[in-house]
Amino acid sequence: MNSESKRFLVTGGAGFIGATVVRHLIEHTPHQVLVVDKLTYAGNLDSLEPVSRSNRYRFEHADIAHAGSMQRVFEDFKPHAVMHLAAESHVDRSIDSPAPFIETNIVGTYVLLEVATKYWRTLGPNERDSFRFHHISTDEVFGSLGAEGLFTEESPYRPNSPYAASKAASDHLVNAWHVTFGLPAVLSNSSNNYGPYQYPEKLIPTVIFNAMGRKPIPVYGRGTNVRDWIHVEDHARALALIAERGEPGASYNVGADCQRSNIDLIHALCKILDELLPDNGRGSHASLIEFVTDRPGHDARYAIDSSKLKRDLQWRPAISLADGLRSTVLWYLNNRAWWERLRATGYKGERLGRLAASATAK
Ligand SMILES: NC(=O)c1ccc[n+]([C@@H]2O[C@H](COP(=O)([O-])OP(=O)(O)OC[C@H]3O[C@@H](n4cnc5c(N)ncnc54)[C@H](O)[C@@H]3O)[C@@H](O)[C@H]2O)c1
Repeated sequence: MNSESKRFLVTGGAGFIGATVVRHLIEHTPHQVLVVDKLTYAGNLDSLEPVSRSNRYRFEHADIAHAGSMQRVFEDFKPHAVMHLAAESHVDRSIDSPAPFIETNIVGTYVLLEVATKYWRTLGPNERDSFRFHHISTDEVFGSLGAEGLFTEESPYRPNSPYAASKAASDHLVNAWHVTFGLPAVLSNSSNNYGPYQYPEKLIPTVIFNAMGRKPIPVYGRGTNVRDWIHVEDHARALALIAERGEPGASYNVGADCQRSNIDLIHALCKILDELLPDNGRGSHASLIEFVTDRPGHDARYAIDSSKLKRDLQWRPAISLADGLRSTVLWYLNNRAWWERLRATGYKGERLGRLAASATAK
């Protein structure tokens, strides 16, 4: 890692991946970090508590879709790099209510690109060359795979959910601002993340919370959908490398070669919980599994080829799925205060993203 201290502007830095990136930058690099976050339901300053006393960390409560606020942030902070993670990120919510996904993921990214480009043009030649706008995206933009194959950087865009479509649109905007206006932008598309500090609505925390409370563990459809899992700390390390050393105009796939069907993953989590919480009611936690109506338009399989990132930037995942799942379960067991506050004020575990009866009848 470069020993020169740079200024990193991290949007969405109070979210699950963003906060992991910020903790990584503060703990493992000399860089200064300004987090810009709107603090939606998914934003949580408690996730930044471990770095909150660092004099290299600052927080700004702002909406990326508000051009005036973003302009002021760029003028004050004068970033060397932007890591853009702010987004609406939950597929089920994009089915219930697509509007915020369009507003933040598409319009917000457009506003940020405009403000960043205007700022970048004011820099001297060396700073212009080294400036980076790093857009963080998902493999869901590539759609769904059949039984074979992997997504590469050349895979065609075929987004299926409103979330994936909004992220695909933002990827295209970033690419267009690079090609048309010369902004040194770089893109990364990662597979499903898991780890500590993830908002309770996502699959792995949902399984852990429901199992801990001896509540039914919902499995969409028959649980055969395959996801490719990466520990969020491996992803954060990859993102820091891409932001520093990624080639402008390039995109990098980020994954850890950990494909699992949802049902296999849930059984693995139940086994860990049986071991760590043996006295939690009667019988294996797997007896709580309950098959529920599938997510509309549920993609069958995601799997990512990250050989370009490994070859060009010498990144390797360091956390195996077995170790990562175990440490994640332990983290949630040992950090009740973090998620109990969220559960007290927000999401209570209700099912999201089921089409209303009137909509399904169409
Ligand atoms: N979670 C995954 O598995 C995954 C996988 C691949 C890519 N991604 C992408 O990584 C990024 C981060 O994902 P995450 O899981 O940490 O999401 P998250 O939902 O946990 O966090 C998103 C953050 O963005 C903030 N935010 C939302 N709208 C904003 C706005 N208009 N202005 C400023 N801040 C705003 C929220 O307050 C929150 O802190 C997203 O762009 C997502 O598409 C996520």
